[in-house]
Amino acid sequence: MVNAVLVGCGAMSKAWLEATARIDGLTISGLVDIDQARAEARAAEFGLSSAVVGADLGTVLAQTSPDMVFDVVVPAARRDVALTAFRHGCHLLTEKPLADTPENARDIVDAARDAGRIHAVVQNRRYVSQVRRIRRFIDSGAIGAPTSIHCDFFVAPHFGGFREEMRHVLLLDMAIHTFDAARYLIAGQPKAVYCQEWEPKNSWYEQGSSAIAIFEMAGGAIFTYRGSWCADGERTSWESAWRIVGEQGALTWDGFDDIRAAVRTDERDGILEKQRPVELPPLNPSDRIGGHLGVIQDFVAAVQNGTQPETAGTDNIKSLAMVFGAIESAETGRRIAIEP
Ligand SMILES: NC(=O)c1ccc[n+]([C@@H]2O[C@H](COP(=O)([O-])OP(=O)(O)OC[C@H]3O[C@@H](n4cnc5c(N)ncnc54)[C@H](O)[C@@H]3O)[C@@H](O)[C@H]2O)c1
Repeated sequence: MVNAVLVGCGAMSKAWLEATARIDGLTISGLVDIDQARAEARAAEFGLSSAVVGADLGTVLAQTSPDMVFDVVVPAARRDVALTAFRHGCHLLTEKPLADTPENARDIVDAARDAGRIHAVVQNRRYVSQVRRIRRFIDSGAIGAPTSIHCDFFVAPHFGGFREEMRHVLLLDMAIHTFDAARYLIAGQPKAVYCQEWEPKNSWYEQGSSAIAIFEMAGGAIFTYRGSWCADGERTSWESAWRIVGEQGALTWDGFDDIRAAVRTDERDGILEKQRPVELPPLNPSDRIGGHLGVIQDFVAAVQNGTQPETAGTDNIKSLAMVFGAIESAETGRRIAIEP
């Protein structure tokens, strides 16, 4: 049996509590929100009558001594929550982004190391079956080594709340998923980035609803990202629309269910080589999927086994470095080297 306190009982906490209810041996022993009524409402909704409910994380941790903290607060509160969790000897699974600034990210990762606690980030896009299948396909060498990877993300949500006031909102709150997935899919390390943000005339965000970024990856591959959170009409999937180009062929994924791949043949059709479609392998039983449920299950297992989960903060900080590099480039108008 393991116990967890969940902090931040806003919109996303519903998906967390639906997932945690499905994990055997995991008990939610506390619910915290600075707006205590929200924590009380979630306790009632999920029948968590024995959970301690409060407005202050430190107080609830002192009362409950849980094994782990589930952090679902807004990014600006993440550092305080993380340091409080580690001070109380808790392992920490945190929503993305790992932190709201590079300094806070470093502080959190260092504090986890100093406390000897497991710290991981919810990068639930890795736990999408198509993402696992594509990674396996790329690893098989079917289209050769990737030379470029391209993503389009055009969705127009009206969230209200913190996102509409947050600076660099697309890069920090959404593109982190896509950047992390790109790094995962081609097993690539980012080297440098050039990025431009813009605000369309119809934008309902304070700043940074739209961005275009070009990343140079180790080994010479290029990753391009084009995204907007106020692009009405012909929306893409929340997973983005993808094209991965390899030395012998290419793969496209619409971000929903349509994945196609083709490789060149030795036969010419005029100036073009004839292409041969290639099937992607089905999901492998060892592929870990399930979105939030999959990430939380892996985290709980890592705590029980004393292992590091796939989305450990020490690795995830490399995806976050892509975000902060893109933000710095957008602010300075320069190409920014991304430190390993
Ligand atoms: N992984 C995903 O797919 C996904 C999807 C949506 C949101 N998120 C992330 O989840 C996090 C929360 O997003 P949301 O949409 O639920 O936001 P939200 O604003 O609906 O909820 C955040 C909650 O945190 C509470 N809070 C803020 N500071 C606090 C503090 N110091 N102590 C306790 N409670 C505090 C607020 O009162 C609020 O109830 C964000 O980091 C967001 O990026 C992830």
